[in-house]
Amino acid sequence: MVQIASEALGTITNERELYKTVLVLTLELLDASGGAVLVEGEDVVSFGLNDSGETLAALETVRIKGRVPWVGRLGQHHALGVGFGRADGAVFLVREERPYTEAECASLRLVARQLARAQERSRLYASLEKTTLEAISALAAALESRDGTTGGHIRRTQVLAGEVARTMGLSSEEVRTAQYAVVLHDIGKIGIPDSILNKLARLTEEEWEIMRRHPKMGADIVGEISGFDSVTGAVLSHHERYDGLGYPERLTGADIPVGARLISAIDAYDAMTNDRPYRKALTRQEAMAELEANSGSQFDPTVIEALTTVLLKREEHEPEREKEPGQ
Ligand SMILES: [Fe+2]
Repeated sequence: MVQIASEALGTITNERELYKTVLVLTLELLDASGGAVLVEGEDVVSFGLNDSGETLAALETVRIKGRVPWVGRLGQHHALGVGFGRADGAVFLVREERPYTEAECASLRLVARQLARAQERSRLYASLEKTTLEAISALAAALESRDGTTGGHIRRTQVLAGEVARTMGLSSEEVRTAQYAVVLHDIGKIGIPDSILNKLARLTEEEWEIMRRHPKMGADIVGEISGFDSVTGAVLSHHERYDGLGYPERLTGADIPVGARLISAIDAYDAMTNDRPYRKALTRQEAMAELEANSGSQFDPTVIEALTTVLLKREEHEPEREKEPGQ
């Protein structure tokens, strides 16, 4: 059982998911009716504690700091707990029927040791992921300066993609995909000649044909990064339209990866609300009206709804400054 727990923990990289899995596994392993994982500065993760308020309050007072298991009573329950990690976590089990044995204490100690390793890995993974995103952003920023986009586009769209994806209730994996994809979506422009990329005049049909290759070229580049399959899909499809009139595959509606549907709306919003060489920026209100007008044709209505929610919330907290005449 400890072996199974250890294997399961090895594959989890999100800390809260990790705690939940540990609880479910150890409840089974040690015949407990409920349990909780407490980590300094984080919300308690608990399972099977019906009178949770009271029991959790009692657990908080125990404050186990060491690796030596603690056995005692919490109200009607027999309880067993042990600390893990750098003295900031503890795992507890409770049951009504009988006290915990020495052997059960030893088993929980083993689980706690695995938990400490998994917690360490999860924190390492989080910092590694941050570094990867920073490296990718630097690469995309180099491209941004080449196609004349004003600075800050990547950072702004990345923040907005995260907020909109969370508002849509997407999974943490999908939020992560959206944030990577929005940073990387135009990376394929690296293969488009400057004469086309920076041309201010209207592109000819041949030039458009070359320009339209950038999603595929981007997907080929991103596809080389292991574990980026969903990001690759979003990059490939970021010029698809909800009504099927986009490119390169003329996908429709939900057939377009959700990351791509997010990028198309967020990228359009950011482009509209910032100055470009050929036109002045629209206000937030004007851009929102423009998105609304194209909801259901160019853009996914669910994305526009979430984006509008996020923007209205921003409006409450940081109202957009009125523009001076002539600015
Ligand atoms: Fe693009």
